[in-house]
Amino acid sequence: MAKAATAPARTYPSSVGVPENNRQALISLLNLRLADSVDIHSQVKWAHWNVKGKDFYQLHLLFDSIATHLEDHVDTIAERVAALGGTANGTIRESAAKSSIPEADLNAADGPAMVKFLVHNVGHYTNALRTAVKEAEGLDDAVTVDLFTSITREMDKDLWFLEAHIQA
Ligand SMILES: [Fe+2]
Repeated sequence: MAKAATAPARTYPSSVGVPENNRQALISLLNLRLADSVDIHSQVKWAHWNVKGKDFYQLHLLFDSIATHLEDHVDTIAERVAALGGTANGTIRESAAKSSIPEADLNAADGPAMVKFLVHNVGHYTNALRTAVKEAEGLDDAVTVDLFTSITREMDKDLWFLEAHIQA
């Protein structure tokens, strides 16, 4: 096994007018949710590739659409880190070391099993973002609050699209 990634917490001077005392905490918060985003993106993509069964095609497409949204969220969060003068720690290895997302159910194969594990893990991801809204509020950065709020709203919709399969 390769050595765990150890990313330096490098920051740069920034003219962005957030309270200086909060800047490092905002960067750390964003980097944690960035790690989650990279991780959950790879899990949804894995489900897109490997789902089997009678609903294969619609789930294959649904999972890909969610993965595309997650790819956008990765970029949005990473670029907010950089805009605040931080270093976006979003390589696969950094993300694997820092992610809070539960392990994917790599035994899942058919549609119901894939949907079940994705509802659980995408739900975890989305609710961690919801908590990040509150945390960013406490750090007095309305722009990061708005960023997390928008992503949470979009992920609530994707979570609904997944969960509707098991809400009968
Ligand atoms: Fe594909």
